[in-house]
Amino acid sequence: MHISVLLKESTEGLALAEGKTVFEGTVGLGGHSRALCEMIGKSGFFIGTDADQESLAIAEERLKDLPCKKLFACDNFRNIDAVLAKAGVEKVDAILLDIGLSNRQLDVVPRGFSFMRDEPLLMTFRSEGDGLTAREIVNEWAEESIADIIYGYGEERFARRIAKGIVEARKDKPIETSGQLAEIVKKCVPKFGFSKINPATKTFQALRIAVNDELGALREGIAKGFEHLAPEGRMAIISFHSLEDRIVKEFFRQKANEGVATLVTKKPIVPSDSEVKENPKSRSSKLRILIKK
Ligand SMILES: C[S@@+](CC[C@H](N)C(=O)[O-])C[C@H]1O[C@@H](n2cnc3c(N)ncnc32)[C@H](O)[C@@H]1O
Repeated sequence: MHISVLLKESTEGLALAEGKTVFEGTVGLGGHSRALCEMIGKSGFFIGTDADQESLAIAEERLKDLPCKKLFACDNFRNIDAVLAKAGVEKVDAILLDIGLSNRQLDVVPRGFSFMRDEPLLMTFRSEGDGLTAREIVNEWAEESIADIIYGYGEERFARRIAKGIVEARKDKPIETSGQLAEIVKKCVPKFGFSKINPATKTFQALRIAVNDELGALREGIAKGFEHLAPEGRMAIISFHSLEDRIVKEFFRQKANEGVATLVTKKPIVPSDSEVKENPKSRSSKLRILIKK
């Protein structure tokens, strides 16, 4: 089960009304989509993408009872141009991105996202097709490049040691599973008795970001998305770590400085204590909203 994060704050922050057109780039299991579809009513148009075909199919089924016009596309939200062109839409009234991965991907889908289980080391959002996988990175990339992504995308201070450990281990046999990788990382990181997080957390985050080019997709998606926002249209982005939030913050500030947007959130909205208590995974989320002039 995925519990939607900052649901009320993000959907209400988009100030949608009956008949509006909305683009949601990260439909996931459709939690935010339901609220959005309810707001736009039967004359509204909901356009939703997710890179993960299986999640999208579940969401489509769950949203069947809602009367608005809907178009679901299994695509990366960085391709918003092509998706809107297919929908015959030039401008949208709102855009929502709730980036990262869903609990279903973390807890159920056997693609190696979790260091708690032993699964093929893929880490792709997309459920099918080819392209870069975490397996390829850890088995084929140079030690230096592995260290760079673990440091750059995981902000892991032991990145060099971990990369060295990975390259040593793969000389023995290929690293095929998430369990194997988690064990290798554990051996490379000094034990801190008090640390609450698993030693593989940052390495797994870094690989996932690299495999899916998450930061590149975010940059491209918000820039293209902004071009497709109608005047007075709103964009809401929920991010989960500082690298993502920095991209959103800088883009929004730039648009405000150029005088083409107003910031609804000068500081990001974070989940309430009760939301964090109910859903601890929401604790690092941040929501930023802007209005196009
Ligand atoms: C946090 S979940 C969204 C959950 C959803 N808001 C809900 O309430 O059910 C993020 C989703 O975004 C998708 N995703 C992440 N990056 C993407 C991208 N660049 N393009 C398309 N989908 C992406 C993932 O596959 C995942 O299903």
